[in-house]
Amino acid sequence: MAIIEKLHILRFRNLDNQYLEPNTNINLFIGGNGQGKTNLIEALYYLGHNRSFKSKNIKDVVPFEKEFLQIDAVVDDVRVLLKKSKNKNTILFNQQKVSSNSRLTHLMPIQIISPDRGFVVGGPPKLKRSYLDWGVFHVKPDLLKTYKSYNKALKNINTLLTNNNTKQLDYWLIQIATLSVEISSARADYIQKLKKTLKKPQFGPLKELIKQNNKFDFHLQTGWTKDTNHIDQESIYKYLIKNRGSFAKLKHLNYGPHKATIDYYFNNQNEQHLSRGEQKKLSIFYWILQVLMLVELNIKPIVLIDDISSELDQEKIDLILGFLIKLEVQIFATDIGNKPLSVDKKIATIYQIDKGIIVKK
Ligand SMILES: Nc1ncnc2c1ncn2[C@@H]1O[C@H](COP(=O)(O)OP(=O)(O)O)[C@@H](O)[C@H]1O
Ligand SMILES: [Mg+2]
Repeated sequence: MAIIEKLHILRFRNLDNQYLEPNTNINLFIGGNGQGKTNLIEALYYLGHNRSFKSKNIKDVVPFEKEFLQIDAVVDDVRVLLKKSKNKNTILFNQQKVSSNSRLTHLMPIQIISPDRGFVVGGPPKLKRSYLDWGVFHVKPDLLKTYKSYNKALKNINTLLTNNNTKQLDYWLIQIATLSVEISSARADYIQKLKKTLKKPQFGPLKELIKQNNKFDFHLQTGWTKDTNHIDQESIYKYLIKNRGSFAKLKHLNYGPHKATIDYYFNNQNEQHLSRGEQKKLSIFYWILQVLMLVELNIKPIVLIDDISSELDQEKIDLILGFLIKLEVQIFATDIGNKPLSVDKKIATIYQIDKGIIVKK
């Protein structure tokens, strides 16, 4: 389950001391441009990750002329508090210190749909990896250690290559080969699971998002060349040794899981040939596919949708909200309110947001 029962944004961008007891189903925030809608979505995301999807710099999200940000919430009966300044970072669960951000991510699996984050179909490999690894993390949390070790090994290799130091290189190349197999197999396994979910009848209604007789497909590119076997350590190690010279010239390792990506196809067309509109709709489609997959594994993500009607018309909004409601996931959506949106008041709370002040309508 993941339900935010209470939310208190003491300080985050233009949100100052805002408190809500969110609806367990739909929370819809209406407000004009520049009022704080994206800030609210970003604050929720921040609480689930201890970082932003918009900015790397803490200074951007701390309210102007203030020293720290602070958000607290009750999530599935756990009292969570995040307080952060330039030099200090505090995460508390029921007043006990927590040292790892992954505890936040685990407690609050957040799926975000926002034009500020970009779209996964037709999007950059980095976003695709983050899509992939979000799913992999929730299915196999233990793999986080492997990712950390991999990044460490990669960093060491790149330093050695930059300094032309070949002495310890072999040791780290062996490490990379081993860790890489673990990561690639988990990713490939996850992609297989997603494909199975795509074929399930429960997902059928969502295919209406893109009306045509459709064929959806996607493939994992593991980050290695085609002549290496990504699940065979030996094959990767041999490849690394053989190409040491070219890595040395480049001064970094340009193959491996850190270069993985997903290729999407729609009616046999590569994603790059699709229109912007199709890429957007397909991205939403694939984000929700992940939500369904996790729900079936008994993990209920919280879904954030920023500027809902800028991406979708009323019919599609109904389709998506209806689908998510059936999955019993909690939704936070924002809208500019140009066109009245019809949401069922029985399962939704509507708020107005003006100059950072949130009022229940
Ligand atoms: N660090 C900050 N401190 C205070 N206000 C901020 C900060 N960063 C952005 N803002 C303000 O937030 C507002 C934009 O909010 P945003 O959530 O992006 O609007 P929208 O409702 O259009 O999504 C602007 O008025 C901007 O000045
Ligand atoms: Mg916005």
